[in-house]
Amino acid sequence: MSWSAKQYVAFEDERTRPARDLLAAIPAGDVRLAIDIGCGPGNSTELLVERFADATVRGLDSSSDMIDAARKRLPQVQFDIADIDTWNDSGPFDVIFANAVLQWVPDHATLLPSLVSKLAPGGSLAVQMPDNLNEHSHRLMREVAADGPWVGKLAGAAGQRAEMADASGYYSILKACCTRVDVWRTTYHHPLAGGASGVVEWFKGSALRPFLDPLDETERAQYLKQYQVAIERAHPVLADGSVLLPFPRLFIVATR
Ligand SMILES: C[S@@+](CC[C@H](N)C(=O)[O-])C[C@H]1O[C@@H](n2cnc3c(N)ncnc32)[C@H](O)[C@@H]1O
Repeated sequence: MSWSAKQYVAFEDERTRPARDLLAAIPAGDVRLAIDIGCGPGNSTELLVERFADATVRGLDSSSDMIDAARKRLPQVQFDIADIDTWNDSGPFDVIFANAVLQWVPDHATLLPSLVSKLAPGGSLAVQMPDNLNEHSHRLMREVAADGPWVGKLAGAAGQRAEMADASGYYSILKACCTRVDVWRTTYHHPLAGGASGVVEWFKGSALRPFLDPLDETERAQYLKQYQVAIERAHPVLADGSVLLPFPRLFIVATR
């Protein structure tokens, strides 16, 4: 799946807010080495650099476009192109920060304990994932995919998101290898200018990628048109011309 730093940063303030909320929940402690996995264009890494000013902070991402943007933004930080699935650096890290990425990486029951094994004693794994697969925004992506000439091309699109457990599932997976596990869920309501087109622009930078990548230019335009019409029906435009996009997210801070 391809990622575009330019499209992603179009809503950078809104996308970075959960990263700030996640970071604020990491317990105070001596942090010497922190890493931002799935660092994107470096917006979340920048928060780590600010909070852990005395630490070495690193970043990794599987997208070269994102890593290029991150290196430009924070030239003093070491950024590597790497896939979390096959990442084999054993650290030990004092903080592993994974904001808005693990929803793209499968098998959380194996993945999360393996990330914890890279932590120093007392270190924290901090994870935030969109928990929005049942929202209109995502239901409609799947419905439009199942209703057009692209059905065959998009057969695997919805399956690219990892299967998520619920809060108690994540608590149980992590409590087996951590001393403290904090899990919570927040729904942000983002006012997006431009009505339904604002919602389309938001998701073009993230969840729509698996639905758009397999299509040619004409199909892509048609898919987006149908998706926008469906979003217009589901999300009424408010008096100020905006649409309020509900965005539930699941947060986990697990300390070894
Ligand atoms: C939604 S962005 C999150 C960016 C940033 N962490 C933030 O807080 O806004 C998701 C990022 O995860 C990266 N990504 C997706 N799957 C990955 C994987 N398996 N390994 C490493 N990075 C991955 C994408 O390239 C993208 O930059």
